[in-house]
Amino acid sequence: MVRHVIAPVDELPPGTRKFLTIDERPIAIFNIKGEFFGLLNRCPHQGAALCEGPLIGLAQSSDPGEIEYTRLGEILRCPWHGWEFDIRTGQSYCDPKRFRAKAYPVNVEPGSAVVKGPYVAETLAVSVESDYVVVDL
Ligand code: FES
Repeated sequence: MVRHVIAPVDELPPGTRKFLTIDERPIAIFNIKGEFFGLLNRCPHQGAALCEGPLIGLAQSSDPGEIEYTRLGEILRCPWHGWEFDIRTGQSYCDPKRFRAKAYPVNVEPGSAVVKGPYVAETLAVSVESDYVVVDL
């Protein structure tokens, strides 16, 4: 597993999201009330840009006619067909057994830990096919 440094915490305040591409995967990082979560920006239903949908709450009912609206801002509604997913787990509320949004672990780490690395520079294979005359001034 390769670690990717996304942004300073200050650049992603609560209630915001950041879109990025990591290893050719479209991902969004969400700050939900100070906790960070990552989801693949592709709906498991028909492939919409899931993470561009609105953040809503969870409507639950314990008795007929009684609806409680909880977890405000923690549920993501797909912009295409309205399926709802839990930002924390990727679970679908429409069809939880068959569909789940791909979730990625996101952590907050102190700058001192991030600076340490290890980081590896990208290298390319080089071959020498003939000789050159070179002058250093
Ligand atoms: S593509 Fe997301 S609900 Fe259909």
